[in-house]
Amino acid sequence: MALVCVEDFEKKAHSVLEKNALDYYRSGAGEQFTLQLNRDAFRRIRIRPRCLRDVSVIDTSCHILGIDLRWPLGIAPSAMQKLAHPEGEGGNARAAGNAGSIYILSTLSTMSIEEVAAAAPNTNKWFQLYVYKDRSLTEQMVRRAEKANFKAIVLTVDAPIFGQRRSDIRNKFNLPPHLHLANFQGIKADGVISNNEATSGINAYVSSQFDSTLTWKDVTWLVNLTKLPIIVKGILTREDAVLAREFGCAGVIVSNHGARQIDTVPASIEALPEIVKAVGNDLVVMLDGGVTQGNDIFKALALGAKMVFVGRAALWGLACNGQKGVEDLLGVLKKDFEITLGLSGCQRLHDITSDMVTHESTYAKL
Ligand SMILES: Cc1cc2nc3c(=O)[nH]c(=O)nc-3n(C[C@H](O)[C@H](O)[C@H](O)COP(=O)(O)O)c2cc1C
Repeated sequence: MALVCVEDFEKKAHSVLEKNALDYYRSGAGEQFTLQLNRDAFRRIRIRPRCLRDVSVIDTSCHILGIDLRWPLGIAPSAMQKLAHPEGEGGNARAAGNAGSIYILSTLSTMSIEEVAAAAPNTNKWFQLYVYKDRSLTEQMVRRAEKANFKAIVLTVDAPIFGQRRSDIRNKFNLPPHLHLANFQGIKADGVISNNEATSGINAYVSSQFDSTLTWKDVTWLVNLTKLPIIVKGILTREDAVLAREFGCAGVIVSNHGARQIDTVPASIEALPEIVKAVGNDLVVMLDGGVTQGNDIFKALALGAKMVFVGRAALWGLACNGQKGVEDLLGVLKKDFEITLGLSGCQRLHDITSDMVTHESTYAKL
């Protein structure tokens, strides 16, 4: 049967992934309230379409931090993509490149920085950084990303420790023995996520390796370490967005980590407006979390995001059919976005204005 929407890819992925991997990919923190909210909040926003505005040609191209893109959707960093398909991060990154998107590689990848660079040389790639207690190891990762032609560092700031994902704890989540954290092979024996009696293997790894003493001072360290633009990922408040500006970041990704860290935080789309209002003129504001429809992309742009990212959706595409699966999934999403633009009376992205969306409560008053 043809896969015509993200939900179709998700359903098929559920049927092919084994339980350890499926639970790891789909789960959120706690009782998963925010996981559901990330999607529901988009549906509480109504589009106010405009008519008779010549939409014979639709142009979704955009320019983000020095990169020309075919459309404003990229692939968010997600760990351990070979759990979804043997093509792993390489297949996902190639698909992003072929779709004219950006691919963000996770620190916790099952293919190394260099392997992904070789597998997808023509893709615009950013590197997502977790800061390790071993600062020289962290610095080495930045140097390797620079050398491999990654174009920005995405510093994830919402994960000093990992959230409690109940199914991972129940499953004692671990990587099967044939997979490893490829960025640490030969550098550290710790590139292994193994069985842990008390918790999930990933949580045990993170608390032993990640530097939870991190503060904004360390952002200064990173900004001074590299000429690459620094984007902070995981911002949910105007206060932290203002600090990101103060500490020299080029952009922020409004994100709750796919609802995997702290439950009952707002949906990313709910947090977006206050952040755009505070720093939107100075920083590139982007968003991820719950994006599954073309109209979600439209709503985020109308509320001031310059670009959005998908995490799980790309994993579902990868699980369905490797690189080809991600390409098909991105094709479905792009078509859906173009149709939303056309039916809303927008030829180009700058035709999407803030008055084209409103909260559902506007209509509840009628
Ligand atoms: C399985 C999985 C692994 C993830 N791994 C990382 C990671 O290594 N680094 C990171 O910054 N974010 C990670 N994230 C968060 C994503 O980058 C992104 O914020 C989130 O998936 C967006 O929500 P969505 O899945 O609803 O699109 C992960 C998310 C998932 C689902």
